[in-house]
Amino acid sequence: MKQHIAIFASGTGSNAKKIIEYFWDNSNIKVSLVVCNKPGAGVLALAEAAGVETLLLRRQAFYETEALVDELQARHISLIVLAGFLWLVPGYLVQAFEGRILNIHPALLPNYGGKGMYGMNVHRAVKAAAERESGITIHLVDQAYDEGRILFQQSCPIEALDRPEDIARKVLQLEHEHFAPVVENYLKQLKS
Ligand code: GRF
Repeated sequence: MKQHIAIFASGTGSNAKKIIEYFWDNSNIKVSLVVCNKPGAGVLALAEAAGVETLLLRRQAFYETEALVDELQARHISLIVLAGFLWLVPGYLVQAFEGRILNIHPALLPNYGGKGMYGMNVHRAVKAAAERESGITIHLVDQAYDEGRILFQQSCPIEALDRPEDIARKVLQLEHEHFAPVVENYLKQLKS
């Protein structure tokens, strides 16, 4: 039976794009839905261009109702992939999809995680601490920011003259390379 993925994203969606492309020809795994909380976000346009259904989230409905669970179940979603989704995932959703929500974080957790640690904030903090390496972490989602079980990490070196922007570029490259294959492996494991 086909496994359906929902990607939650609110930004430009470069990771979402990579994941959609990666599974494009796959007869067992399909990105069936992109959920976004920002009207006009780049990720919506690219999902539409790829013919992937989109759903716009309203904050109140997301936190005060559980309607989203029905929406996801109606589409037989077996895995939620957070790719640049900044809202804290509410308890009802974590429970309904226990062990079935993955997130990517642009640093080597447990360092540089938690509230406020997103986007360039992360890379600036890494630079300010004069770290010699950064990287990516793909982890399961629980009810705290960035604290679920770690599934995969990959590091990249930071050179003395690298600016936060350079670190961001290196990290994003790692995300594009590894996120989709890690999602694929995780789905295979879920099935067996
Ligand atoms: C990525 O850096 C990811 O680690 C973080 O949000 C960013 C999303 O970038 N969670 P994009 O929208 O996929 O380009």
